[in-house]
Amino acid sequence: CAFLNIFLAMAFSEAEVQRARGAWEKMYANAEDNGTTVLVRMFTEHPDTKSYFTHFKGMGTAEEMEQSDQIRSHGKKVLTAINDLVQHLDSTDAFLGIVNPLGKKHATQLKIDPKNFRVICDIILQLMEEKYGGDCKASFEKVTNEICTRLNNAY
Ligand code: HEM
Ligand SMILES: *[C@@H]1O[C@H](CO)[C@@H](O)[C@H](O)[C@H]1NC(C)=O
Repeated sequence: CAFLNIFLAMAFSEAEVQRARGAWEKMYANAEDNGTTVLVRMFTEHPDTKSYFTHFKGMGTAEEMEQSDQIRSHGKKVLTAINDLVQHLDSTDAFLGIVNPLGKKHATQLKIDPKNFRVICDIILQLMEEKYGGDCKASFEKVTNEICTRLNNAY
């Protein structure tokens, strides 16, 4: 329901924006490694998600996936897109300008089952908690909720 996206403004306080950016910096500092970790965990724990990436080479074992150039570069792309969103938490217009086309592409061209947005977001939060603790995860939860909701609204 795309029109929802236009009317529901985001509500991040300045403090929430700062905390979310602080938490995210740690992930984005190693965008390729951490993006690859996210994807490999998604493919391992939710093998059905591999069906969208049959054109990628090296979709076998976890070790193979970690070495795959296509997975590595896609992992970096996904984290770069999230980083773009994180830089625009203080502007609903700018945030939607990024997330709406992304949602549209995933809905109409890639035909991704939208339940998978929650899957990948939960993996990101889980990794943040494992590596950087519960505060880091908590600081980023509202961002992942916003991303999932807005991507879903493209359907
Ligand atoms: C936080 C959620 C997600 C973000 C930020 C994201 C971001 C992106 C970006 C930036 C691209 C490249 C778009 C382009 O080239 O124009 C992309 C492509 C793609 N995404 Fe996502 N994505 C997300 C979730 C997912 C999920 C959950 C799946 C499937 C389980 C998925 C499957 C794909 C596929 C198949 C492509 C095309 C890959 C290729 O052929 O190069 N995405 N995504
Ligand atoms: C991100 O990558 C760095 C370098 O490989 C690693 O030290 C860190 O633990 C990773 N963080 C997560 C959340 O996987």
